[in-house]
Amino acid sequence: MNRKKFIKDTALTAALVALPGRELFAGISNTQEKVRLTMIGVGLRGQNHLDLIMRRNDVELVAICDIDERMLSISKSIIDRSGNKMPQIFSGDPYAWKKMLALKNIDGIIISTPWEWHKEMIIGSIEAGIKYIGTEVMLGITLQDHWDVVKSAEQYNAHVMMLENVCYRRDVMAALNMVRQGLFGELVHLQGGYQHDLREVKFNNGIEAYGHGCEFGDKGWSEARWRTHHSVYRNGDLYPTHGIGPIAHYININRGNRFVNISSFSSKARGLHDYIVKKCGPTHPNAKINFKLGDIVTTSIGCANGETILLQHDTNLPRPYSLGFRVQGTDGLWMDVARGVYIEGKSKPHQWDNSKLWFDKYDHPLWKRWSNETAGAGHGGMDFFVIHALVESIKRKTDTPMDVYDAAAWSAITPLSEISIEKGNETIEFPDFTGGKWMYRKPVFSLSDEF
Ligand SMILES: NC(=O)c1ccc[n+]([C@@H]2O[C@H](COP(=O)([O-])OP(=O)(O)OC[C@H]3O[C@@H](n4cnc5c(N)ncnc54)[C@H](O)[C@@H]3O)[C@@H](O)[C@H]2O)c1
Repeated sequence: MNRKKFIKDTALTAALVALPGRELFAGISNTQEKVRLTMIGVGLRGQNHLDLIMRRNDVELVAICDIDERMLSISKSIIDRSGNKMPQIFSGDPYAWKKMLALKNIDGIIISTPWEWHKEMIIGSIEAGIKYIGTEVMLGITLQDHWDVVKSAEQYNAHVMMLENVCYRRDVMAALNMVRQGLFGELVHLQGGYQHDLREVKFNNGIEAYGHGCEFGDKGWSEARWRTHHSVYRNGDLYPTHGIGPIAHYININRGNRFVNISSFSSKARGLHDYIVKKCGPTHPNAKINFKLGDIVTTSIGCANGETILLQHDTNLPRPYSLGFRVQGTDGLWMDVARGVYIEGKSKPHQWDNSKLWFDKYDHPLWKRWSNETAGAGHGGMDFFVIHALVESIKRKTDTPMDVYDAAAWSAITPLSEISIEKGNETIEFPDFTGGKWMYRKPVFSLSDEF
């Protein structure tokens, strides 16, 4: 589901408050002992997660916290409509979440707030004794933030899972299945990125989330309220996890492999200024702003096992959405944009096969089992799996399939790319958050059809 459709559906949800019933996920059995969850941030992303939680028989949502009355009101409508009990609501000031953390017997928390809050909220939750933290993308802002979260999770034996949904995209998982079955041979090079025209997200009119107006900060709403500032003050790959998450699974990063070094280049910054001028005229006050974020940020990463990775961050210019995956080995490759797979000896020489032919055949067991449940879940169904994985890990009291080392390595690309650009595109060392454990940790992500 794209953002525009989601906001339309959310508005619809509010209008349908009176409708009874909810569509429960059929494959999840009713449990006597429910997983007790809380949430900080029920903005547009948090509402996606909220809807999925409301459809599970095995979860009790104990409390939610947000500081935006409108977001809370939409969220209450989602809960009302589901027929579930209304959770306790915490609001009123930016630290109301700390009061919520004082609640007893909480199994897990889902954090969907602006990036600059993540570190503080994750560490606060860990120190409050919560053992399972599902956080939206980015652990923190600075490199030190990432170290702090890792050290805190280690000290308290807490599980911190980044809710990186693209790892569960159906084609991405079919490609993972093909990688694991050796179809591409030994992997050599990988590409991905975040190539998404966010101009209508970074600016709005303070009322509608997408497509109207040129405001941001206090005058904006939803992501325009906070995300755009990062384009004013920072220059680097601000959103690496959608691309790097799947790639990390393909080559077992932190589990027999690791990122070793990184360098980034940034193009000039034109797109956001150009958008404001075209949409709201050259005299609009925001037309004076100098955006620091280069329109295209290109990052190269070298890995311990000899693979190279190329990531691109491209959010300020007109373009159709594409994460631009490329998975290439000694026997063939997948290129997302070409919708093509080529396997030497199996494909016609020098010709692409339609990737659908291969992906239907190598559909991942998780998708085979849960495709009914994914219908209606956000982003083409993949959102179902992140919440499912978090909840099932809590039920089984086991490690989450993506852990704090994964989250730190993926999101640390942002500050590292900023440092590289600042130093004239210098290649810099990539820290090993596992402290050497990457050498003997084994892959655990999606090895079965369970979660
Ligand atoms: N994985 C994905 O596909 C995906 C998609 C969209 C957003 N995201 C991520 O989700 C997160 C949230 O993004 P969003 O689109 O929901 O933004 P949003 O602005 O719509 O929602 C953020 C919410 O956090 C609340 N908030 C801010 N400060 C708070 C505080 N101190 N205490 C309590 N609540 C607070 C805001 O009021 C708002 O409701 C970000 O990390 C974003 O990158 C991920």
